[in-house]
Amino acid sequence: MELIKVNPQAAPQIALIELNRPKELNALNPQLMQEVRDALQELDRNDQVRVIIITGNEQAFAAGADIKQMADKSAIDMLLLDQFSTWDQIRKTKKPIIAAVSGFALGGGCEFAMTCDMIIASETAKFGQPEIKIGTIPGAGGTQRLTKAIGKAKAMELILTGRFLSAQEAHFYGLVNKVVPVEFYLTEAIALAKEIASMSPVAVQLAKEAVNRSFETLLDEGLMFERKNFYLTFASQDQKEGMQAFIEKRKPSFLGR
Ligand code: HXC
Repeated sequence: MELIKVNPQAAPQIALIELNRPKELNALNPQLMQEVRDALQELDRNDQVRVIIITGNEQAFAAGADIKQMADKSAIDMLLLDQFSTWDQIRKTKKPIIAAVSGFALGGGCEFAMTCDMIIASETAKFGQPEIKIGTIPGAGGTQRLTKAIGKAKAMELILTGRFLSAQEAHFYGLVNKVVPVEFYLTEAIALAKEIASMSPVAVQLAKEAVNRSFETLLDEGLMFERKNFYLTFASQDQKEGMQAFIEKRKPSFLGR
């Protein structure tokens, strides 16, 4: 891995992926996204990992797709590059992913954070889709995910003007889970990850799948999907253990089966 750093045990059962192109403010290029995809696939298979955190550095989560690499491409170059199949594979990660964002999360960087399941932001975080300022539009889900996350009026404003949202505004509009001082954004993400890691991984996976389904289906189909995953948890030892532990007034011990 050249453009990211991976620590599969940043804390017990918590993996950390750090984007590592600091000089370019972690601008995302196809190689970086392929490395992220490969790391996620490996971590998804690693039984020792229950939750994954993706972060950048204090200055930038990611300032967007690499403009220098895209500038002279034709539409057909972009089509044949087919970079979004990598993003589609990232979206299929089964374990929960928390984005720990400090500094810039712009363009593809904002889209990447939104591709994750939750966002913990430092007070310095800035979110935006400034593609309009360079004559293009979001291409990795920004028009869809931002609109679903913060509503049409604000998403339209950000996407048509390229304005940034501060961390506090992003929190107000429901784009991020929590805003903390810059020195704590990673610790806070790890705390959230640990809480999730203490749950049944089977139930966590089925719950993640069901929540994500709500973006893709009408209510009726989504409810059916949720119901099937709910029934499926009753095939796990973790459900028996969780409910028995409640009845016996003790802490459950989840094995992920
Ligand atoms: C390539 C980038 C970059 C980017 C920053 N850099 N963003 N290089 N692609 N997206 C490089 C700069 O060229 C510079 O390198 C170095 O990082 C530091 O950036 P500065 O501009 O000097 O820093 P600063 O003045 O602090 O401004 C920060 C900034 C600005 C506001 C984030 O860099 C900026 O506006 N960046 C572009 C943001 C953007 O438009 N993102 C959307 C991209 S399109 P040098 O070598 O010159 O010092 C997109 C489409 C997504 O994301 C499609 C799906 C993948």
